[in-house]
Amino acid sequence: MLQSLAVANYRSLRELVIPLGPLNLITGANGSGKSNLYRALRLLAETAQGGVVAALAREGGLPSTLWAGPEQFSRGMRSGQQPVQGGPRQQSVAMKLGFAAEPFGYCIDLGLPTPSASAFTLDPEIKTETIFAGASARPASALVERRGALAKVRQGRSWEVIASHLNLYESVLTQISDPERAPEVQTVRDQIRRWRFYDHFRCDAHSPARQPQIGTRTPVLGHDGQDLAAAWQTIAEIGNIRALEDAVEDAFPGCRVSIGHEGCWFSLHFHQPGLLRPLSAAELSDGTLRYLLWIAALHTPRPPPLMVLNEPETSLHPDLLPALARLIASAATRSQLWVVSHASRLIAALREERSCQELALEKTLSETELTGQGLLDGPPWVWPKR
Ligand SMILES: Nc1ncnc2c1ncn2[C@@H]1O[C@H](COP(=O)(O)OP(=O)(O)OP(=O)(O)O)[C@@H](O)[C@H]1O
Ligand SMILES: [Mg+2]
Repeated sequence: MLQSLAVANYRSLRELVIPLGPLNLITGANGSGKSNLYRALRLLAETAQGGVVAALAREGGLPSTLWAGPEQFSRGMRSGQQPVQGGPRQQSVAMKLGFAAEPFGYCIDLGLPTPSASAFTLDPEIKTETIFAGASARPASALVERRGALAKVRQGRSWEVIASHLNLYESVLTQISDPERAPEVQTVRDQIRRWRFYDHFRCDAHSPARQPQIGTRTPVLGHDGQDLAAAWQTIAEIGNIRALEDAVEDAFPGCRVSIGHEGCWFSLHFHQPGLLRPLSAAELSDGTLRYLLWIAALHTPRPPPLMVLNEPETSLHPDLLPALARLIASAATRSQLWVVSHASRLIAALREERSCQELALEKTLSETELTGQGLLDGPPWVWPKR
């Protein structure tokens, strides 16, 4: 489980460290930084897939994603007595992302590239990466350290160099595979790769979830939900079918779902009271289909360490939201959950859950802050030096 997430100089997140629990509910007004925090998590996930530099480039590179305010706010700027202005830079440009977790935490520091003849002048460069044990990357808790092209691992009281020609645009998580000398790298990579993000189920008339699909065993619903029927059948065969049926009954009393298959083609049938035949996925309303997708995603027989749901209330009627909150709370007993929401009914229902921790975001001088978090009461965090 992630214990804290830390971000520095990424969009509106100038310097933010947030504590995380089993079920995290991220709320806040428009523009408060919810999506930025979500994107920061996605960038971390990209590091383990080898795509962090490309993902940043797609967002406009460092020029666009770097915090656009001054390095620090003076007391005068905060009180409004002085205009907000930047001075000569005191520190080098550094966008930093990290998390503390069991058994290992990880952080990465991206900066401007050293001038070279390359045409890829906007590609950020990975300056440091650290894998550590415990609550933050203090020098004493570091286990693997990368500085530029060099990576070393702790061996008792000394350090052993395990790579000296690393690419500056690729993470150690994808460049080092040495289970003997650096098993921590593999552990962190495997953990991060299992994180699951759900943010855009397709439910439009032409969405693949509405069509029969070739089905194979699908323990993990695809991010766009196209393999819904196969995922449903997989849960029915190797997962908790009772919980699946109860979730349908909880949201749609008197209804049930069955899966039809002709050869390798799978399709979903929705049985509703009062009708002579079941409805196919093509005939379901957007909201019904979307809710079934959530049921399938949250009952996966292979729960990931972290599941991130971005505005799961989209196109659901407010009356369905308490049932969705129960679905989410039950999934939070199997995976750590991160839920970004705007919907007051969903927020109210989730707040009732004991495991739920609300992280309310607000903006002060365009900087995202956690409501109620004072300067000293965030989780402990130390960024490694370059
Ligand atoms: N490079 C940057 N530096 C500083 N602020 C930025 C930067 N890029 C974007 N922002 C600001 O970050 C703010 C938060 O954006 P974000 O998309 O996270 O909001 P949100 O909480 O998801 O809002 P909504 O509810 O509208 O989706 C925006 O107001 C945007 O102007
Ligand atoms: Mg948003």
